[in-house]
This record gives sequence, C-alpha cells and structure tokens, in this order.
Amino acid sequence: MKNIYSNIYSFDKKTLKKTIKSLNLGNIASLPTETVYGLAGNAYSNKAVSKIFKLKKRPKKNPIIIHYYDKKYIDDDVILNKYFLKLYKKLCPGPITFILKRNKKSKINSMATANLATVAIRFPRHRVLRTILKSLNYPLAMPSANISSGLSPVSSVDVYDEFKQKINIIINGGKSKIGIESTVVDLSGKPKILRPGIISSDEIKKILKMKLSKDKTNIKAPGMLKKHYSPGIPIVLGQKPKNSNQAYIFFGKKLKKRNNYFNLSKKGNLKEAAANLYKIMRKIKNAGYKKIFVSKIPNLGPGIAINDRLKRASK
Ligand code: TXA
Ligand code: MG
Repeated sequence: MKNIYSNIYSFDKKTLKKTIKSLNLGNIASLPTETVYGLAGNAYSNKAVSKIFKLKKRPKKNPIIIHYYDKKYIDDDVILNKYFLKLYKKLCPGPITFILKRNKKSKINSMATANLATVAIRFPRHRVLRTILKSLNYPLAMPSANISSGLSPVSSVDVYDEFKQKINIIINGGKSKIGIESTVVDLSGKPKILRPGIISSDEIKKILKMKLSKDKTNIKAPGMLKKHYSPGIPIVLGQKPKNSNQAYIFFGKKLKKRNNYFNLSKKGNLKEAAANLYKIMRKIKNAGYKKIFVSKIPNLGPGIAINDRLKRASK
C-alpha cells in the first residue's frame, strides 16, 4: 500500500540536506515552529514568495512574516530601535513578531511585505527550524501553513490535511507546543499590539516600562481585518448546543462525557486551552459536525488571544 503521507519527513541529517537543497532552488517546504506550522520559502526570492501566495490563495495585500536565526542577520533588512532591542533580549527566540521599518537596502522580496515600508520579523524557538535557519544564507518568508482564512496547522498531519501532496516536503517536528500564532507587536511607531498571543500585552508593557498605544486608526495588519482562523463551519459564541449533531467546546468545567463535547483544558488552564484550540476545531471539522458552539472563555492572559481567534472564526 502506498503511504499517503509520503511527503512527511522526520528530521535527520538527510532531511536537513534535502530541505536546504529544495529551499535553495526557490521551492517551498512546510516547517514546524513552536506556535503553528509554517509554509517556508527564501524571503529574497520572487519565485519562492510567489509560490507561497499561490498555494495559500493568500490576498496580495497580506504581508508575510520573515523568520531569522538571530539578530546578527537583520541589520540590512530592518531599522532597529530601542523597543525592539529590549523585547528581543527578554523574549527571543520565542513566539513574538516585531514590525519594524524596512531598511532601504533590504533584499526582502517586496511581494512578501505587500510593498509596505515595514517588515514583520520573528525569531522562532523550535529546535528543528533553528537548525534549518542556521544552515541557510537567507531568511525564510513563512506564513502559517493553511489555505488563507482557515485553521492554522499544529502538526505535520494537519499540514497534509490542508495541502495533501501539493508540498514536496513537510517536516514533522511534533505537535506545536504553543498552538496559536505569535503575538504581533508594531514597533514602527509607538508600540502597539496588532495580534494578541501567548506573550501578553502586560508582559510587553512591563519590559518596555510604558503603556502601549490603543490607536486603531492605522491598523497595519491587513490579514487581521477579515474573517480568519475559520474551520469552515458556523461558530456560535457563548451558547450551548441544541442537539448532539452540534459540537460544544468548553473550558475548565467538569461536564458529563458526551461525544460532541470537547474540553479545551480539564485543569482550567488557559495556556493549555490555547494549545488545544486549533487541534480541537480541526478534529470537530473532520468529524463532520455542521456547527460549533463555544462556552464563555475568561478574557485574561492567553484567554485574550483565544477570544480574538474565536471572534474572527465566528465572523
Ligand atoms: O506564529 C506565527 O507567527 C506563524 C508561524 C508560522 O511563524 N506565522 C503566522 O503567519 O502566523 P501569518 O502569515 O499567518 O500571519 C502573519 C500576520 C498577518 O496578520 C499579517 O497581516 C501580519 O502578520 N503582518 C505581516 N507583515 C506585516 C507588516 N509589515 N505590518 C503589519 N502586519 C504585518
Ligand atoms: Mg495565518
């Protein structure tokens, strides 16, 4: 029998070599990160970046995050500032993305940044990805490895679920520990959160020793405006299901076991709930449920990021 997952590879020296060779040719590969799986290509290559947009069916207006091994490699691409240096020191490598002004001599493909004067940069923590980044002489443009507006993948099989054999290499790096996308913080002006994540705005405030901007007039994360993170079936927030053909996602409470009931965290831990969110929504979608109901999730810490994703998914 043919192995349907023949494009999923475990990580070893041979896979590393194969992946580097493929990326050097301007091809793309799906790689694990600690947040969600990504669809990676050479950020300096027009061929690679075009492929990413095409495969994801991503709107041209939505810029992509550029991933680096560490700070040593960013000087030619972005303009550093004091906010960035403070946050980098405390939080990197880790699940946070910084928006900085683009350096005029930057070689980053302009389609990747949607022709903006800013660039989103991130330093992922996943060991496999760091080994790959260290072996390349260019950074990786890497959005989440899902068809645009859908659920982000948190395992190699999830990536397969999205793209089947349309990607040559999917590297299995285990389940993504964080399970939701990185916090995006705009540092191109007064610091401002564009996308909440596991690293909270309180944590960022504390490190910067200042209040963050609440200004909503110049939202610069175009991908954040529309319906997003959707399992493709209706989601109703703050209500219980009417029958057993509808799935119920809840949090913390001890409810009677039912097939259509899905607990984000039995312990009532919001970090664990975030890590389980996309995994459970994909499970529900693949089980054939036609509607999802979600109980109220406390809006604090990781709960802020969970509620942000749920609200957009229910649009
Ligand atoms: O955790 C993550 O960040 C994952 C993993 C794979 O690293 N990546 C990810 O990428 O979530 P993506 O493409 O799904 O989301 C990138 C977000 C989008 O909302 C996009 O609009 C925003 O970052 N973004 C990218 N460049 C930007 C820029 N120059 N200014 C404002 N927002 C930007
Ligand atoms: Mg995404």
